[in-house]
Amino acid sequence: MAIERTFSMIKPDATKRNLTGAITKMLEDAGLRVVASKRVWMSRREAEGFYAVHKERPFFGELVDTMTSGPTVVQVLEGENAIAKNREIMGATNPAQAAEGTIRKTHALSIGENSVHGSDAPETAKIEIAYWFAETEIVG
Ligand code: TYD
Repeated sequence: MAIERTFSMIKPDATKRNLTGAITKMLEDAGLRVVASKRVWMSRREAEGFYAVHKERPFFGELVDTMTSGPTVVQVLEGENAIAKNREIMGATNPAQAAEGTIRKTHALSIGENSVHGSDAPETAKIEIAYWFAETEIVG
């Protein structure tokens, strides 16, 4: 399996509860390396653009409200099978359905305030990384 990169976010519900370190440790303990990281307070325009694929969904307004309610830590993670590995460590979208030991089971508050984001495929990882990072900001 080749080394892969994925895009990750520690969402405002988690940064507000001071969980940036705890969540990053769970990612690192699973063998992922943080090769880029910055803290942003996203604008509505940035949140709407990032989640454009969901713009017709009933939860879109609430999603944008949540994502602009505080700081987010955007990260690029690197490792073997990083995309699938990160999705596994994150757990299901709804924390009530997330497996024991996952980030969402451990820390998420609800389906809307579910603490983390992770790319779901190589094409989306590429697009999402480029949405937030210049190539020079990624140091492998
Ligand atoms: P989605 O891409 O389906 O999930 P994931 O983050 O696990 O890839 O949805 C994106 C985000 O939208 C999700 O993390 C939280 C929010 N959301 C809701 O608020 N309500 C919902 O019913 C769904 C499906 C998602």
